[in-house]
Amino acid sequence: MKVLAISGSPHMGDGNTAMILDPFLEGMKEAGANVDLFYTRNLKIGPCNGDMSCWFKNPGKCGQDDDMLMLLPKFKEADVIVWASPVYYAGITGPLKNLMDRQLPLHILGESSGKKQKVVLVSSCGFWDISMFDPLVAQMKALYARPEGNTEFVGALLRPGADPMRDMMKGDGAAVLESIFKAAKEAGRQLVKEGNISEEIQKGVSKKFMPEEEYQKAAKAMMEQIKKSIN
Ligand SMILES: Cc1cc2nc3c(=O)[nH]c(=O)nc-3n(C[C@H](O)[C@H](O)[C@H](O)COP(=O)(O)O)c2cc1C
Repeated sequence: MKVLAISGSPHMGDGNTAMILDPFLEGMKEAGANVDLFYTRNLKIGPCNGDMSCWFKNPGKCGQDDDMLMLLPKFKEADVIVWASPVYYAGITGPLKNLMDRQLPLHILGESSGKKQKVVLVSSCGFWDISMFDPLVAQMKALYARPEGNTEFVGALLRPGADPMRDMMKGDGAAVLESIFKAAKEAGRQLVKEGNISEEIQKGVSKKFMPEEEYQKAAKAMMEQIKKSIN
């Protein structure tokens, strides 16, 4: 099973999104999948210029010479595509959206990609409320859960209230978070072995790990830390 994971987190492997993405990919690898992970931050990928040359001039070929040329065949070959992103203004990050748009050479109207692909969303956000992910999930469903399509939106690993997690890992909080990381890893195993991710496991990733009041205090303290560290 070939897995293509793209993360739009500018913090790459050190960010909040990676705290869910990494164990998820680990679970897939342990179950035997072949996983390729790319961070948009390390890629040079410009926005789609919308001239439709990839449909009507050179079908299947993009006129821009950048890292998307290397990624397009990987999208074509993947059995599973993982879109990972922090929530930025109630959406995915700009670089990830640019990359997503640049898939157009693969999706020529009326042509099927030929391969049945499964798609997963992995995301983290600062807000407490899980509804912050609604626009991202809606985008995934609109794109990948179409009855006429060849794709299946398998589910989403969503981590609201993610901001204090890194700090918690340094202290006693690590034990509190353990079940969340375990659920993310199990999600990877399930996807490879069973072809889906159970609702229960998805909920396990989003599970509340402290009372909201405490969370708001911890998030505020973290912002103070960032403020100090950049000044
Ligand atoms: C520019 C920017 C926009 C953000 N917008 C939102 C938002 O709309 N909703 C939210 O809950 N968190 C928002 N956040 C917080 C991030 O989603 C959150 O910190 C996330 O866990 C960061 O993940 P990362 O460490 O992988 O980058 C925003 C952060 C930044 C820097």
